Amino acid sequence: MNLDRKDMLGIEDLSRKEIEIILETANKFAEVTNRPIKKVPTLRGKTVICLFFENSTRTRTSFEIAGKRLSADVVNVSAQASSVKKGETLLDTAKNLQAMHPDIIVCRHSSAGACHVLARYLKNTSIINAGDGAHEHPSQALLDMMTVMQVKKKVDGLKVAIVGDITHSRVARSNIYCFQKMGASVAVVGPPSMLPCSIKDMGVDVYYNLKEGLKGADIVMMLRIQQERISHSPFPTLREYSRHYGLNNETISTLKKDVLIMHPGPVNRGVEIDPDIADGPYSLILSQVTNGVAVRMALLYLFSGVKTLDI
Ligand code: CP
Repeated sequence: MNLDRKDMLGIEDLSRKEIEIILETANKFAEVTNRPIKKVPTLRGKTVICLFFENSTRTRTSFEIAGKRLSADVVNVSAQASSVKKGETLLDTAKNLQAMHPDIIVCRHSSAGACHVLARYLKNTSIINAGDGAHEHPSQALLDMMTVMQVKKKVDGLKVAIVGDITHSRVARSNIYCFQKMGASVAVVGPPSMLPCSIKDMGVDVYYNLKEGLKGADIVMMLRIQQERISHSPFPTLREYSRHYGLNNETISTLKKDVLIMHPGPVNRGVEIDPDIADGPYSLILSQVTNGVAVRMALLYLFSGVKTLDI
């Protein structure tokens, strides 16, 4: 099983078959992460650079752990501590890193399309998108899909509701593509100021009322308000936002008894989700994080050029 691609830039480009290959590979690596010795020689001699221009806890750490569990050499470059601070451009930075012959660069950047630029100019290095502006966060959608499939077994016919700051959410865009390709229907819910008019073109149902949007949902994904991408507040106060769009015990009581609650993190407790719900029996939040390592192991393997799955 392999993917005939140099780069992993977004879910939009992938076929259902390719998503299934990534998830099957991730399931194999999930078994490795449960062993007492969590290391396999699959990527021995390969070099992975994690080039992060934005803050990250889950994505950067799990790509690093994934690479190390596969025996790759992993180097982390944070823009804050790099020559970007001296005025070097993204492209110059990436070309200089490529000159050291890494096999894969995992990149997060605040500009939509930054990873596509790197993929176009760096002919000898695979680029994996770890989140580009408000565009896509493909590894997040894949780990979300893996987490849902562990519980529901199949996604065809499920209803997914994504709630919150859709305008600025790369997680929402990648998950809309991913869940639709796997046969689910997707609803987006939020205040009009956080739902772009163009979202309807993605084939989703749009709701401005939380209870209406969550009716019949099998999966509810709560999103953080992306304050770092917002120049002026799209609602009067956080308290007001939370009252209308936050997930709490009262809202949960109206949902399906087997509903699954997800959040990509970081969570703003008491804003988009109450602590009782984030830590409660319906929550898959920490399973999502666990599965992130297996999915990123799969991506590093599938985009490394290595053909043998030595695990
Ligand atoms: N979900 C996610 O991308 O989290 P981080 O920003 O911590 O990587």
